[in-house]
Amino acid sequence: MIIAPSLLASDFGKFAAEAKRAERAGADWLHLDVMDGHFVPNISFGPDVVRALRSQVKLFFDVHLMCSNPDILLEPFVKAGADQITIHAELGDKTLDLIWRIKALRCKVGLAINPPTVITEVEPFLPHIDLLLVMTVNPGFGGQPFIREALPKIAQAWEWRQRRALGYRIEVDGGINSTTGAECAAMGADTFVSGSNLYSKRNMKQAVRTLRDSVESQRRPSKATPTR
Ligand code: DX5
Ligand code: ZN
Repeated sequence: MIIAPSLLASDFGKFAAEAKRAERAGADWLHLDVMDGHFVPNISFGPDVVRALRSQVKLFFDVHLMCSNPDILLEPFVKAGADQITIHAELGDKTLDLIWRIKALRCKVGLAINPPTVITEVEPFLPHIDLLLVMTVNPGFGGQPFIREALPKIAQAWEWRQRRALGYRIEVDGGINSTTGAECAAMGADTFVSGSNLYSKRNMKQAVRTLRDSVESQRRPSKATPTR
């Protein structure tokens, strides 16, 4: 199981210290939410912040692009040190091209799906991706309540992976804490983004351990092996 604190919930005045805090806390990945003020009604940070952090932490950089025009951002983020770039299925016709462009940059590729979008939209892309991100809030802001209606999508993604012997990870993002994380794990999620729940805790190490124990206890055994 992968635990990925979201830097969006950190103190924006000290990104490097906050990224190191996640690393020291025993997190597996660092989740980096990139918002353009167009695809979502908020703006976060760009490749220069990622580059500045790259030299300071070894964590796997999980970059989540909530951007209408990711084409122009792929190369800058890979050069800045992204290990994986996730784009949104809501970009429609552009999706397959973007997936192949990310692969051509020798970067892992994720595909995200928002709560209102039906899960069948991502089905054609599953053989080509390393990770499917099932959004459990409408993207744009941290600290929102978990949307329980996303749970059947996780189960469907897990069943497709099993049936087709594919290797993508199943990630959840939005309102994830020990309780909601465990519900997602029971449906088949294996990768857990958590922002405010982890960063609000004085003892993040304990918070990571609590979340990890909780999701591990609900792990859905799978014959498919995620690629990382
Ligand atoms: C939402 C972002 C999330 C966000 C999650 O648009 O994609 O990664 O940081 O934050 P929490 O865990 O606070 O819901
Ligand atoms: Zn995110």
